[in-house]
Amino acid sequence: MPADPARYFERHVFVCTNVREKGHPRGCCSEKGSVALRDYMKAKCKELGLGGRKVRVNIAGCLDRCELGPNLVIYPEGVWYTYRNEADLDEIIRVHLIEGGRVGRLMLQPQDVLPRDREKRLAGAAAAS
Ligand code: FES
Repeated sequence: MPADPARYFERHVFVCTNVREKGHPRGCCSEKGSVALRDYMKAKCKELGLGGRKVRVNIAGCLDRCELGPNLVIYPEGVWYTYRNEADLDEIIRVHLIEGGRVGRLMLQPQDVLPRDREKRLAGAAAAS
């Protein structure tokens, strides 16, 4: 098997901006502000010198974790985040994209399917600490 080529972008961020009809049981990321927030993240990364091949912030269609949205996923790490506002994105940019860390409070785990799964997990972690 040939070796994988070197990465074209150091990090590739996919931000769901999927639109569903109003009242859809799964909801959608766009109804929670993801279009404007993705634009904010893209502009912020550029402003911070993370353009070119460092970080690419792309619009994505449905990532199939709608209930937890708005969502984004960062590759090559494959780390998922939910976020609510510009401050959350600022933290993801600073901690994950610049410093190489993780924003634990916003990360999604594979077992998080519905918001209650995530809330239960976070409550369990808080009780254990
Ligand atoms: S609508 Fe965003 S993950 Fe499905």
